[in-house]
Amino acid sequence: MPTAEINVFNPVRIHFGNGIINMAGEIAKKYSGVALVVTGGESMQKTGALERLLKILKDSGIKTFVYDGITPNPTCDEIDEAAKMAREKGAGLVIGLGGGSPMDSAKATAVAAKGNVPVWEYLKNPAKDALPVITVASTSGSGSEVNRYSVMTNPKTCEKPGFGYECMYPKEAIIDPEITATMPPFVTASTGFDVFVHSLEASAGKAANVFSKAYSLQAFHLLKNNLEKAYNEPENLEARGKMALASAFAGLAINISGVGIIHGLEHPVSGNYPKVAHGAGLAALAAPSLKYNFETCKRNYMLIAKHMGVKRMDKPDDEYALAFIEKIGDMLKAVNLGLRLKDLGIEREKLPKIAKEAFTTMKFAMENNPVTVSEADALKILEASY
Ligand SMILES: [Fe+2]
Repeated sequence: MPTAEINVFNPVRIHFGNGIINMAGEIAKKYSGVALVVTGGESMQKTGALERLLKILKDSGIKTFVYDGITPNPTCDEIDEAAKMAREKGAGLVIGLGGGSPMDSAKATAVAAKGNVPVWEYLKNPAKDALPVITVASTSGSGSEVNRYSVMTNPKTCEKPGFGYECMYPKEAIIDPEITATMPPFVTASTGFDVFVHSLEASAGKAANVFSKAYSLQAFHLLKNNLEKAYNEPENLEARGKMALASAFAGLAINISGVGIIHGLEHPVSGNYPKVAHGAGLAALAAPSLKYNFETCKRNYMLIAKHMGVKRMDKPDDEYALAFIEKIGDMLKAVNLGLRLKDLGIEREKLPKIAKEAFTTMKFAMENNPVTVSEADALKILEASY
């Protein structure tokens, strides 16, 4: 039997627009009259988004329960707790409200609620069935709103793998720039940089194809100036909207082609140091990783530079591709993310463990990198990021 050269699938219905959260009740009603809302313990309460969503659902006659124990690097224990709650309350729908962590956790909860085994088991045994999931994104970063992926941390071993089966696609994604406008500056910056790295790695990796490249280029185009704008003008709904769309495009891109070494190395960083925000870890690792891939990715960097508005003037290829790496550094400094691993509280002696773990929990990302990378290379990149 021939194998398709390209095989692309994404069943998520996307609702985008200011105030579109008001449709959440009508959308949810299609799936169940009992919903479990999975969220974190703080920001959605502070901004009023949780209260607003619960009222919208109630007005549509949906009975809701809330699991608000999701932490920034969610653990498998939190997901097992949420799944237990979903089963006990008879939820027929899981709604993930918040950033990447609650949305990822909603998908994992939906899987675990259907089975009767701890969610960690699904890393080994593919899940075939899950409760329907709706995502309501409050950040523009993870892309989790539109793809099948979920990331969780094992608090005993500090492993932080990602997984994603076909049954884990959200049925519908609600992307409302008004909700993202409440993000504080650091969250805007760190999640926004995640969008950039998703686009970069999905367009450059070994698994990249014309679809992931097209999504990524659109994301780069939307990112241009808008990360800084959303950071400096939190209530600028145009910039927020463009960042929200960039996040969705990048989320679709990684759904097709996966990520590379920046993610491969970052997951064990924040797995071992759960207080480190994913985007901040990515920021520290970006330049040395981009340099590691330089020879193979030069043309790609030049293309992205063009989409992000870096002027070429008369620069020869190498200089223009290097100007792109500098542009990324400038972009990070402009949003106060000019960080190194030591600034994030990482201990130097942990670097060998991090390098090793990248090849176990994030094997697919390390193997997808456009340039073959060994554990010794990974350690060198970590040292250069320190
Ligand atoms: Fe990411």
